[in-house]
Amino acid sequence: MTSSDGHHLPPRPVHASQSEMAEVVLPNDANPLGNLLGGRLMHLIDIAGALAAHRHSRSYVVTASMDHIDFLAPVLIGDLLILKSSINRAFKTSMEIGVKCWVENYIAATTRHVASAYLTFVAVDQNGHHRPVPHVIPETPEEKRRYEDAGRRRELRKQEQERRRTQIG
Ligand SMILES: CC(C)(COP(=O)(O)OP(=O)(O)OC[C@H]1O[C@@H](n2cnc3c(N)ncnc32)[C@H](O)[C@@H]1OP(=O)(O)O)[C@@H](O)C(=O)NCCC(=O)NCCS
Repeated sequence: MTSSDGHHLPPRPVHASQSEMAEVVLPNDANPLGNLLGGRLMHLIDIAGALAAHRHSRSYVVTASMDHIDFLAPVLIGDLLILKSSINRAFKTSMEIGVKCWVENYIAATTRHVASAYLTFVAVDQNGHHRPVPHVIPETPEEKRRYEDAGRRRELRKQEQERRRTQIG
């Protein structure tokens, strides 16, 4: 089946593109107090999110936006940082990806949630033109909840963009 929005592409389950990155925090990534720089964590979140977006869309992608981010706890030099990314929902050419970050204490075998963010990536071809992306098949109750929430967040983002446009204009 084909359609004007390109959704002849076979839909793909969430687990097919879930990704994980691990990074040991080095002194070059930290401030003088030994805390990981917020900007460096955002850089890692962007890369981790792009992995899931690339895998879901099987395409080049660009970052369209990163939503509000909270740094919940400091990450220190020597910490093992784990970043997990998962697609929440795909729209026409864009995808909302959630990235959750933990510090893993490999001695005590415990983990600590340190940050989370939602990012939107847009699939593009080699010339930078937008490309349609496959729909997502949410399977578990958690995936279905995230799918619904992603739809609501998209509406809020659009309203906020519109509000900014009218304020500037
Ligand atoms: C993001 C970008 C591709 C949007 O292109 P555009 O022509 O302005 O956007 P359009 O209005 O045609 O929208 C294209 C898609 O992007 C989404 N989008 C656009 N701006 C967005 C934003 N700020 N946040 C979330 N999604 C956004 C739209 O909702 C639309 O999604 P859909 O096709 O699934 O419905 C474009 O602004 C761009 O290339 N920005 C620079 C990206 C970049 O360099 N990123 C950092 C380095 S990777």
